[in-house]
Amino acid sequence: MIYRLVLVAIASICIGDAAYPQDSVPNLKDPSMIAAGHDLFLQKQCAHCHGEDGRGGINLARRDLDPKGVFQSIADGREKSGLRMPAWRDVMTDEEIWKATAYVMSISHEPK
Ligand code: HEC
Repeated sequence: MIYRLVLVAIASICIGDAAYPQDSVPNLKDPSMIAAGHDLFLQKQCAHCHGEDGRGGINLARRDLDPKGVFQSIADGREKSGLRMPAWRDVMTDEEIWKATAYVMSISHEPK
């Protein structure tokens, strides 16, 4: 019993420390990730173009988004109708990009 608990604890420490490689999507429904993503949204000037809650300016809400696609757009930047979003790969870590992705998914259409 106790042995099993120790194993679970060790496993969660290892998983908790792991970086987020781009091809394995972390738990984007984790409320602490969503909250951290919103903080980044304000810190990294995303709000400048997308509004403080992502629903102003270039509205991100109510889109049918795929998490990996969102990660890619944030990392590499995006251009649409002559409007350009810069790439964030050099400014944000993968972990930060996943957090921002978690926030975007939380306001987009029902997460899949
Ligand atoms: C200079 C303005 C600007 C800033 C700053 C900006 N964006 Fe964007 N963003 C855009 C434009 C332009 C688009 C493309 C237009 C569209 O998809 O409607 C876009 C699109 C997106 C999309 C949609 C991607 C998709 O797959 O449809 C997401 C998600 C996004 N931005 C997140 C962010 C995040 C997170 C940040 C901050 C790290 C950020 N943006 C900062 C202008 C900006």
